[in-house]
Amino acid sequence: MINKFSSLSSLLIALVLSACSGTTGSLPQSSPGANAITYTLPALPYSHAALEPVIDEKTMFIHHTKHHQAYIDNLNKALKDTPQAALPLNTILASVSSFPPAVRNNGGGHWNHSFFWKIMTPPQRATAPSPKLLEAINASFGSLDAFKEKFNAAATGRFGSGWAWLINTPTGLEISSTPNQDNPLMDVAEVKGTPILAVDVWEHAYYLKYQNKRADYLKEWWKVVNWDEVSKLYEGA
Ligand SMILES: [Fe+2]
Repeated sequence: MINKFSSLSSLLIALVLSACSGTTGSLPQSSPGANAITYTLPALPYSHAALEPVIDEKTMFIHHTKHHQAYIDNLNKALKDTPQAALPLNTILASVSSFPPAVRNNGGGHWNHSFFWKIMTPPQRATAPSPKLLEAINASFGSLDAFKEKFNAAATGRFGSGWAWLINTPTGLEISSTPNQDNPLMDVAEVKGTPILAVDVWEHAYYLKYQNKRADYLKEWWKVVNWDEVSKLYEGA
């Protein structure tokens, strides 16, 4: 599963392999091995129109089939014919500072979008945080409304393109934001933890319907949060 770190041995292999790769250009090529992973576009758990009227069908279609697909194609290209192609994506992300920027940008892009699709659901499906998650949110932020306000402030305040996150850490829940396609699983992240909720604040996520009004998108976006899935991620984190 993408939200679980792989074994320590895989991480050590990643560190050893990537130590030779440097941080620019391409990875050195060698036998891809039988275990090379080819990434493919995951199907959405709903139709492209299902998040209407919060997120329009055209935005979802382009976001999923063009933007997400491009991250996957470029990730496959960056890892092609390298020993690192056999590593689980979470293992790569945990030592991504040792990889070329193409792996960081596109590996993050693939992970982040795969996660994002799962934590949304049609607005007609009313969901709410589980009692356990709500208790943790109240403990960390005071109330659900106070949490949403703080999360939206992090998302609105992210300069340029990036993401806002709710993460589970050894000391409790935290809100963070990352630039570009970085995420809290990466060794380069300022705040690290296990993501349980995220919002994409790249303009490609909202521009057709909300134009430059990121705050309006964020206000509406809560209507499509899949709290059942977020609660499950929290309780399994
Ligand atoms: Fe996106």
